[in-house]
Amino acid sequence: MYCVRKVTEDLYWVGGNDRRLALFENIHPIPRGVSYNSYLLLDEKTVLFDTIDWSICRQFLENVQAVLNGRPLDYLVINHMEPDHGASIEEIILRYPDVKIISTEKSFLLMRQFGFKIDGRIEEVADGDTKSFGKHEVTFVAAPMVHWPEAMVTFDTTNGVLFSADAFGSFGALDGKLFNDEVNFERDWIDDARRYYTNIVGKYGTHVQALLKKAIGLDIKMICPLHGPVWRTDLGYFIDKYDKWSRYEPEEKAVMIVYASMYGNTESAATSLATKFVEKGIKNVVMYDVSSTHVSQLISETFRVSHVILASVTYNLGIYPPMHNYLMDMKALNLQKRTLAIIENGSWACKSGDLMGEFLYGMKEMTVIEEKVSLVSSMNENNVTDMDSLVESIIESMK
Ligand SMILES: Cc1cc2nc3c(=O)[nH]c(=O)nc-3n(C[C@H](O)[C@H](O)[C@H](O)COP(=O)(O)O)c2cc1C
Ligand SMILES: [Fe+2]
Ligand SMILES: [Fe+2]
Repeated sequence: MYCVRKVTEDLYWVGGNDRRLALFENIHPIPRGVSYNSYLLLDEKTVLFDTIDWSICRQFLENVQAVLNGRPLDYLVINHMEPDHGASIEEIILRYPDVKIISTEKSFLLMRQFGFKIDGRIEEVADGDTKSFGKHEVTFVAAPMVHWPEAMVTFDTTNGVLFSADAFGSFGALDGKLFNDEVNFERDWIDDARRYYTNIVGKYGTHVQALLKKAIGLDIKMICPLHGPVWRTDLGYFIDKYDKWSRYEPEEKAVMIVYASMYGNTESAATSLATKFVEKGIKNVVMYDVSSTHVSQLISETFRVSHVILASVTYNLGIYPPMHNYLMDMKALNLQKRTLAIIENGSWACKSGDLMGEFLYGMKEMTVIEEKVSLVSSMNENNVTDMDSLVESIIESMK
């Protein structure tokens, strides 16, 4: 049975949800599932904006067929050729043999690499090109590296709808509610939206900034992303989040303590540290065990907060492997502009502090607090002064 939503008077959401997929990109856990959005415009010409992941192709085809209601499909606009959106292009071609595909040069190259037979049906567009489908005229805007090099977004100048590809997307399946004003975004969606952005697109902040600059010139009334809710109210709220994330600016003055501990001694020191902050009036403090928190969640939280304290045991003369993994991810995603402090632990040859420090010095615009705490197996009275001055330094830098 088809399941669609009306977006505007002549635009329909024809996507679907995958609630069975455990790992997005086979890496990131998605306990709330994910939606793959596709939109169908019924103008003088019929136009489908992007397809969906292979996993929900059947639902998608039923949706497209229902909305077309016997009309042929004239155009398929591909904003993003990553297979979570492009996988079903051939199914569309098979069912609608007269369809023309509109996309970028790089996107057509990728389609051929993935083995799609598209000869004779392509219409190549570049940044700034326009196209009329009848009542609706659209402008194609290049969005390289948001999140692949071929990506573009499409702006409908007639009604202000922006088909934003992966930009402004979120993890999470849509439970019937499509629009941002139908959900409690701040309560139920922001964490998944942040985890999606930071882990999927986070590395490409400068490219997202370039796209945001282009967007300022457009009179955007609605944002139709390829994942998660459609934005039709309060656009400024989400655009502001994207602006902060892509500039690597923290959202909140907050302390995040990430600890690595095998036998609980480093963990105990981390708890004592958190307590000190709270007693000094800094209540925006969170603690994460690096072993039991998925790295995508650690990354997302690191984008949110201003201050990060890394507390790690030494493990075979190195950084504890899950902590090392987190640091590598942080570096790979280009995370910047944070203030960090280090707590190390070692029982016979303590190395973790220096090694974590080296890691951070190799990253952009990271301020590492000079005060370090060195634990020898467990925290004792000798560490109290160091711990207190670390807390004071962090609080000072939060002012
Ligand atoms: C497999 C393993 C390897 C370790 N390697 C080192 C090491 O190379 N140097 C060192 O100083 N301590 C080493 N330690 C000790 C830990 O760094 C840490 O001091 C101790 O486990 C207490 O902290 P915890 O209770 O937070 O785990 C090792 C511990 C384990 C279990
Ligand atoms: Fe993508
Ligand atoms: Fe995507």
